Amino acid sequence: MADTQWFRQARFGLFLHWGLYAAHARGEWYASMERVPPEEYDRAFGAFDAADYDPRAWARMARQAGMKYAVLTAKHHEGFCLFDSAYTDYKATNTPAGRDLVREYLEAFRAEGLRVGLYYSLVDWHHPDYPAYADPFHPLRGSEARRREQCDFERYLAYLHAQVRELCTGYGKLDLLWFDFSYEGHTGEDWHARELVEMVRALQPGILLNSRLEASGGSLGSLLSGRPTPWAGDFATPEQIVPPAPLAGPDGAPVCWEACQTMNNSFGYTEADHAYKSAAVCIRQLADCVSKGGNYLLNVGPNARGALPAPAQEILREIGAWMRCNGESIYGCGAADPVVSAFGCRTTAKGKTVYLHVMQQPVGPLALRGIAPEQIRRASLLYSGSQVEVLQEGWTAANYPGYTFLSLAARANETQPLPDAADTVVKLELR
Ligand code: GLC
Repeated sequence: MADTQWFRQARFGLFLHWGLYAAHARGEWYASMERVPPEEYDRAFGAFDAADYDPRAWARMARQAGMKYAVLTAKHHEGFCLFDSAYTDYKATNTPAGRDLVREYLEAFRAEGLRVGLYYSLVDWHHPDYPAYADPFHPLRGSEARRREQCDFERYLAYLHAQVRELCTGYGKLDLLWFDFSYEGHTGEDWHARELVEMVRALQPGILLNSRLEASGGSLGSLLSGRPTPWAGDFATPEQIVPPAPLAGPDGAPVCWEACQTMNNSFGYTEADHAYKSAAVCIRQLADCVSKGGNYLLNVGPNARGALPAPAQEILREIGAWMRCNGESIYGCGAADPVVSAFGCRTTAKGKTVYLHVMQQPVGPLALRGIAPEQIRRASLLYSGSQVEVLQEGWTAANYPGYTFLSLAARANETQPLPDAADTVVKLELR
């Protein structure tokens, strides 16, 4: 297993789902969901021009949002490659875009000081040697044309390994590789995973691998079993959920993880999906992840022109404003031990400092459990440094032994709106 130190320090990354599906504008599963025949799907190929693609602007937005790394889909399930692979014609350089979009992304994000990752789909709905007929997801599943298909999965695996080699040799240092995904009959050694992992780790020493050479968005793989396989990866990838508690092995040892989440309800650009989460919801999700020792990989699906949707840009800006004041409670932080609990709060911690993320307006003072008043050297609002009073006497403290009360208002018995309605962070420096 690789050293996950930078990854646990970073805590917050940008997921980018971009491919031909952006032109169809119905999400990255559109071909499968609607069983779209290839002739129809590939109309997007001649239309994909990426005219507004400005990876430096993407990278700047990510950095300003407080993100420390990014993961771009070099190839998604549709099989289309954003990079100039020698092994296929189904790639961005052959579309009107005419550019190696992966190379430009890597250069731009590195220049902005972010760590770089690539997503690579194990699943491939374009390659003729990827079985279609009996597959549960392939757009041509059950199709007469593919009934007696003569596909040679070994040939597909050679292609997959060769493309991963290309990405690991032709694009400089990669910090992370994100495989996706495994399912019945296509898991672990079905992908020749041992060989693949050995190759990647030899070519890119120190690279981090996710868990999906044996897992999917809905399964966590053997990382939590205490006996991980050689292809279990370095971190688990719960999708569209924040685990209710820190992930750990049977002995209680923490397992590294990253929750990937959409900003609306789609990874790939979807014209009709306006159900964006508010920046406040994203900020709370981020704090929630960190409070359980995990990372938050927030997705944006650029459109076919290569622009990030305006609502996504606005959300990134708002998150950035919060991160500039409160990043200290996120970077390098993890679960608090012992557990501190309070109404409407999550806690993150680093060394002797506990950060209380107050996400709901308490009425009167905030009651904490898990920290005694005498353990607190100083309590303050992280964004301003203003002192927060720890109540030592009076009816609040006296009547409820076992609790520590913090006054978030000027006077103990008053209620004032939280300075930050999304997440007001109280910094508790412990003795
Ligand atoms: C999935 C999906 C997918 C998305 C993703 C992100 O399992 O198939 O479209 O890329 O994982 O976690």
